Amino acid sequence: MSKVTLFSGESIPLEMHKPRMVQKVNLLPVEERLNTIREAGFNTFLLRSRDVYLDMLTDSGTNAMSENQYAAMMQADDSYAGSETFYRLEKVLQDIFGMKHFLPAHQGRACEHIIARVLVAPGSTALTNFHFTTTKAHISIAGGALEELVSAEGLEITSSLPFKGDIDLDMLTEAIKRLGKDKISFVRLEAGTNLIGGQPISMENIREVSRICRAEGITLVMDASLLADNLYFIKTRDPEFRDTGIIEITREIGRLSDIIYFSGRKLGAARGGGILVNDDKMFTDMRELVPLYEGFLTYGGMSAREMEAMAVGLLETLDIDVISQTPLFVEALCNELQSKGIPVVTPPGGLGCHVDAKQFCPDIPQAQYPAAALSAAFYIAGGFRGMERGTASEQRNDDGTEHFAQMELVRLAMPKRVFSLSQVKYTADRVAWLHKNRGLIGGLVFAEEPKVLRFFFGRLAPIGDWPEKLMKKFREDFGESL
Ligand code: F0G
Repeated sequence: MSKVTLFSGESIPLEMHKPRMVQKVNLLPVEERLNTIREAGFNTFLLRSRDVYLDMLTDSGTNAMSENQYAAMMQADDSYAGSETFYRLEKVLQDIFGMKHFLPAHQGRACEHIIARVLVAPGSTALTNFHFTTTKAHISIAGGALEELVSAEGLEITSSLPFKGDIDLDMLTEAIKRLGKDKISFVRLEAGTNLIGGQPISMENIREVSRICRAEGITLVMDASLLADNLYFIKTRDPEFRDTGIIEITREIGRLSDIIYFSGRKLGAARGGGILVNDDKMFTDMRELVPLYEGFLTYGGMSAREMEAMAVGLLETLDIDVISQTPLFVEALCNELQSKGIPVVTPPGGLGCHVDAKQFCPDIPQAQYPAAALSAAFYIAGGFRGMERGTASEQRNDDGTEHFAQMELVRLAMPKRVFSLSQVKYTADRVAWLHKNRGLIGGLVFAEEPKVLRFFFGRLAPIGDWPEKLMKKFREDFGESL
């Protein structure tokens, strides 16, 4: 395990890897950071990566790859049909999850599209611990609804609950009774629950949900995109699994699920995705859609090189030194911020450190997008970009009014094996400076607002001249420093 206690008593994560290929990054002066974020419409999605010092937008497709992944890419078999690469990837997946069939897709949302097309009937409801943006979109396009059943504590910012992603089992039983099992398209468990702060689900919960689903004849779908972090938490937070190998934990999850799908941009540290399914009929129904929307059955829209890298990346997911790195760095950043009095989601989860914008900027009303304003302010303060996960990421109600998000978070993602501890300390320092000057941060309004997924392309404008004031205060406090 890559965590050591120093002679001073301080506990730090140790990097169990060494960089042998690196990418240069730039830290622009604060004046240029202000101009750049203005040009990007105060939306971190619209920044160019050359202008970003630490890219904490996401871990999607940005995890560092190993030498063995790169080496495997050289043996990619680019055959249109029957590629050896496909069979290698299929074998790895069948082996680690113990499931029967594998269908490739170009990324996680493509899997969601196929699953929703086959399993979601108009007027049906899918039950889930918590939604993910693309999942919800595909279910609603297919005419279904999504109901969230995460336990109430999962939505509290501060908690000591080790598995905040768990479904509330009473709510699940009640929902099945109320809706009737025939009106339920499937139950979906999201590992490492993204939008509530990368919070894991427990094996106990997976077992119980699976038991209930099997008793009722309801399909259990596992979104395993963030499974690597979740595996680490099952191993380290649940005493039952202290001495269990990661592969056994993974196989047990496979045994308990009917369908597993994943974004290969996250799980497997490459780019692509896939669906695993046991049932022959479901497999044949989904298989028809793959050549139509993705590509032939033995590549599904992925390049053979990515499939080779993914196969090796999946095997590396069974190594605790590999999967511990993100959670330990998230914990390091969360602890550093908490010690400076900054509100973050606790306990630290996987994926990234999540800062609570509601508490950070209590004077900015939700209608002025506090999490989006804070993301822009982070970039001005330190050149790092996080992702808004609050009201700006929601869709307006049908009558045009705002749909206020349950949480206003800024995610500072920690892609696997990318950042150093000094970069974590730098980030914490600039966030702490901003927190001290939080009174300067103001709200935003949409200047250009797309109708669908507005957070990707929408442009915003500051209310007042707070970004200039922030920049000037930075110069006053840091002098010539970047
Ligand atoms: N499910 C979860 C839990 C995810 O986090 C994502 C993507 C997807 C499905 C969709 O996968 O991007 O390969 O199509 N999350 C990315 C993020 C976008 O930044 O958290 P995809």
